[in-house]
Amino acid sequence: MKNFISVNDVDDMNALVAKALAYKRNPFADRNLGADKRIGLLFLNPSLRTRLSTQVAAKNLGMEAIVFNVDKEGWALEFEEGAIMSGNTVEHVKDAAPILGQYFDILCIRTFPSLKNREDDYSELVMNSFLQFAGVPIISLESATLHPLQSLTDILTIKESWHSNSLWDEGTRKPKIVLTWAPHVKPLPQCVANSFAQWVNAWGEADFVITHPADYELSEAYTKGAIITTNQNEALKDADFVYVKNWSTYNDYGKIYSNDPAWMLTEEKLQLTNNAKVMHCLPVRRNVELSDEILDSENSLVTKQAGNRVWAAQAIISEILKG
Ligand code: CP
Repeated sequence: MKNFISVNDVDDMNALVAKALAYKRNPFADRNLGADKRIGLLFLNPSLRTRLSTQVAAKNLGMEAIVFNVDKEGWALEFEEGAIMSGNTVEHVKDAAPILGQYFDILCIRTFPSLKNREDDYSELVMNSFLQFAGVPIISLESATLHPLQSLTDILTIKESWHSNSLWDEGTRKPKIVLTWAPHVKPLPQCVANSFAQWVNAWGEADFVITHPADYELSEAYTKGAIITTNQNEALKDADFVYVKNWSTYNDYGKIYSNDPAWMLTEEKLQLTNNAKVMHCLPVRRNVELSDEILDSENSLVTKQAGNRVWAAQAIISEILKG
């Protein structure tokens, strides 16, 4: 593997998941693979799980990890080609990225969309600039439109749970996975939802339903292949996994059209499912996106899911080091 930006960088998803789960069983199996190598983690916005799980994963492989909070500690970067830099930006990515490429063997980038201009965000200017100018492998720690390390974690958490729950008739049918929109007080990116849809569709081993209020359609580039409905109760029927996530509008870009609390997943709604396991990428707004009763119940996979971020990151760093 040369870079890890989306599911398109993965040759064999099931093999990659198996590799991540093998690291979960034996974290130090490749403790010397990254000896004498450095990984740089650049953050243009906050993070808890992505930052720490990637550091732990690199350490398990013997690498030194250095975190750089560009947004707080670095010069303000310019990304526009030909920009006349007489404003607030101090250093062009064309100058900064090749230098970072000399300091690190692998460079990881975390950025968010502006949610102001869809064309700009979906052009992935920040990630593509580092791909173009750094000269070393790039790992996305979440981009303007996708969150592939989260999605790999999500698939492995689903597979791990599906294969270990003897109450389900695993092996005789595919799991039913529902991605449901949830209310939120702030407009959030579509990244996690886009990426989850892209990975579940590429995996192809689930019955996949997406449910959201009217006007919250995601880009077809990611959802094609899923059943899409605005009837949440219908969608939840017999679900084995319910993935809860808010996203802002895609068509009339970056808006909140609805904050309807009726879309929050509750114990009552969970009764419609096949005793579904509930997932969320975190951080979660309790009793806005997801109720306490669900998050604190045995149905919640969120802690296990966040823990699995280490093994997904370790599998990807390992693939890149071997590549
Ligand atoms: N899920 C996730 O990316 O969490 P952080 O924002 O804390 O990294």
